[in-house]
Amino acid sequence: MTSSASEAITTTPDAERIEAFEERLTRALNEAGMLLMASLGHRTGLFDSLADGAKVTCESLAERTQLDERYVREWLGAMTAGRIVETDPETGRYWLPGEHAALLSRQAAANLAVYAQFIPLLGSMEEDILRCFREGGGVPYERFNRFHEVMAEDSGQTVLPALFDGILPLIPDLISRLQRGIRVLDAGCGRGKALVAMAKRYPNSQFIGYDLAEEAVAFGRESAAASGLENLQFERRDLSNFNETAEREAFDLVTTFDAIHDQAKPLAVLAGIRKTLKPDGVYLAQDIHGSSHHHLDREHPMGAFLYAVSTMHCMTVSLAQGGEGLGTMWGREKAREYFKKAGFGSIEVHQLPHDVQNDYWVLRP
Ligand SMILES: C[S@@+](CC[C@H](N)C(=O)[O-])C[C@H]1O[C@@H](n2cnc3c(N)ncnc32)[C@H](O)[C@@H]1O
Repeated sequence: MTSSASEAITTTPDAERIEAFEERLTRALNEAGMLLMASLGHRTGLFDSLADGAKVTCESLAERTQLDERYVREWLGAMTAGRIVETDPETGRYWLPGEHAALLSRQAAANLAVYAQFIPLLGSMEEDILRCFREGGGVPYERFNRFHEVMAEDSGQTVLPALFDGILPLIPDLISRLQRGIRVLDAGCGRGKALVAMAKRYPNSQFIGYDLAEEAVAFGRESAAASGLENLQFERRDLSNFNETAEREAFDLVTTFDAIHDQAKPLAVLAGIRKTLKPDGVYLAQDIHGSSHHHLDREHPMGAFLYAVSTMHCMTVSLAQGGEGLGTMWGREKAREYFKKAGFGSIEVHQLPHDVQNDYWVLRP
């Protein structure tokens, strides 16, 4: 065995395996193009317009959606070639099969077109990220167009539909405590959809959301005002020194939804959460399911995608704050290590059937 950092390649590549790999790459390129178009299909409302299964001409679809007919025609070409939309060349009509509408429209419970938006969103950052590969450092939140908007749509699907029936019930007696009235903090709350839903459901409890991004907390405040919620507040707050600034024993419940791994100082945030919990308080953390090992992440159904999200967003925004750059795929082992270091004595982890992407941690002092 050599101990050098790089080992010479001695085997001759197998021709059949090259061919199979070429097929895979070609397929990936084709699917990547389809995803770019799927993102546009979501944003333009084209999928929603086709969701009723009606067989429409390109002209009538353009009219229905008030979009430019030439662009709609090209999009239909991509969607037909990508086998998303069906067409009948005799009648010149197009339709979206019900099985596809079930996963691609706003009427659907799980709209996977929401996630397609990450492909152009992250792709648009390539120049900035390329510079970081060469020079180090990171790309700050402000450079990301639409991040908070897309993130809120994402968590609107992974958190909201399961919040009351799957996520909160992970903690025995929490629902009755929320009904009676407790103090709840959501750290790294983004646009605060989960908070709005909880504040509506539990009027006797008091809710607050902290987030670094003014844009996100401003959106949260507007949502709370629009719903007439007086038990919900939002505060712009940098949690990088939360271990020092957190109010001691102030909250019965702290939640973080997908908001630890991209922090500048995740351990300081966790220590602050530990400090701000009451002695009988509980911390519920949703964070990405990973293994902390590259070779084990091969089994993750979305591993490559999540490492891309990490490189082009989560890791880089942390590095841009002079942070640790933990990355999206920090994984269970490292998460457990951080929770222990932050002082949590009781640590449980769960997976929920609706969400392959995340783990759900229940932590107590
Ligand atoms: C992946 S987003 C999750 C947002 C939200 N919890 C959700 O599920 O939609 C992570 C959030 O952490 C916030 N964040 C990042 N660094 C922060 C910091 N230093 N202090 C406070 N919030 C921070 C970001 O602004 C972002 O809204």
